[in-house]
Amino acid sequence: MSIEIIPTGAALGAEIRGVDLARSLDDQTFAAIERAYNEYGVIFFREQRITPQQQVAFTRRFGEIEFNIFGERWSVPDSPEIVVVSNVTEEGRPIGVRRAGENWHSDMCYTARPPRGTILYALEIPDLFGLPLGDTEFASGAAAWDALPESMRQRIEGRRAVFDFAGRKRAFPPTQSEVDRYPPVKHPIVRMHPYTGRKCLYVMRDDCIGIEGIDPEEAEALITALADHIVKPAFIYRHHWRPSDLLMWDNCTVQHRAIQDYDLPRRRLMHRTTMGGAPPV
Ligand code: SIN
Repeated sequence: MSIEIIPTGAALGAEIRGVDLARSLDDQTFAAIERAYNEYGVIFFREQRITPQQQVAFTRRFGEIEFNIFGERWSVPDSPEIVVVSNVTEEGRPIGVRRAGENWHSDMCYTARPPRGTILYALEIPDLFGLPLGDTEFASGAAAWDALPESMRQRIEGRRAVFDFAGRKRAFPPTQSEVDRYPPVKHPIVRMHPYTGRKCLYVMRDDCIGIEGIDPEEAEALITALADHIVKPAFIYRHHWRPSDLLMWDNCTVQHRAIQDYDLPRRRLMHRTTMGGAPPV
């Protein structure tokens, strides 16, 4: 395969061409994909025709699969690793998690070992007069860190925030046992990417409920200021989906949110897999 990497021109993101994910990838091709993924934070492949098994196999090349609580309610038959993200209902019942992430977030940041990354494979994309709806926006916490003034860098480096699973409002409120499974954890708000060493901001408005060593009122104001800084237009790539896109993002340097500008009868159907991670440093 002859692989081509085309940066989006935004602060993050690149399209990868010349790769057929339905075929097994040789080590050299996989290494080029992994390098691009670590460097660009978001990479995507157009016109992929893959089965659930092929998506799981591709995800496993990046490490162990992480199981998400939504998968316990909505997974693909015979592929418990894949969460169905969809607004579709069958016989009045949702077939997947709807409105999976309307607010800016990094997946499972409330766990002790947040996942390395997430893969979304688009099966059905809503549109209006041929214009795609249901985009996903991505923000680079690395570009946001690079743009911070030195005084702010010194103020926050080495500090840890408290991440609380119960902090974020979710489309499907979690059960008490799900809340109990994820007690609040502390992570550095300036993280180092585990593969590139690049620094990035790791703060989310809804998930972070405090900062160690800073009084609650000041911490709340600082979380808001940093979270708003990360999602400034200069640090964003907005993906306009096409059916058969496979896109993956890095959960260390990248935050994302799903744009909810569509509803039934316009259908959106995605298959999501998540890669295991490690404690942030
Ligand atoms: C997610 O947050 O995992 C889903 C993003 C999307 O549906 O666009």
